[in-house]
Amino acid sequence: MYFAITLLVSAATLAPLALAGNAIVQNACTDPVYLWSVGGSVGERQTIDPGANYTETTHYDYVSGGIAIKITRTENGMYDGSPQTNFQYALTDHLYYDLNDVYGDPFSGSTLVVRPSIDTCNTICWGGGVRAMVTSQTEACSTDTDITLTLCAESC
Ligand SMILES: *[C@@H]1O[C@H](CO)[C@@H](O)[C@H](O)[C@H]1NC(C)=O
Repeated sequence: MYFAITLLVSAATLAPLALAGNAIVQNACTDPVYLWSVGGSVGERQTIDPGANYTETTHYDYVSGGIAIKITRTENGMYDGSPQTNFQYALTDHLYYDLNDVYGDPFSGSTLVVRPSIDTCNTICWGGGVRAMVTSQTEACSTDTDITLTLCAESC
């Protein structure tokens, strides 16, 4: 009994083992998108067809701390320098999330929205598919929230 309690306590101290939710990428565009979930290692390429979702359980990565879901519009995009949208989160005492682009703006001209399932947490919306603000906007919500990034959303 004592041993079991010690294990629980040390696991809780080492790892932010909080309640998790889902990180979802919803493809509302008319073409497939490609994504890689990257933490301490790079996940397999996922092809998300129009109208389909990609879902992963939010988790803590012991090597990188946070996760970047890297999204491109070309099949080999992560490896050929194509414009990339990074949907990033870190699950610790809260779920921290943000959105940024590198190598260009793959969804320029359409709308990107990150919406948490908990209403009181902030939505991130890029009306023209590019970030309007100069600085990155990192938001925080409780750990059990789902966060959904909609690509080519109808509106903010
Ligand atoms: C995709 O996720 C959204 C938001 O969580 C949900 O409303 C929608 O029903 C899902 N679509 C599919 C095809 O699973």
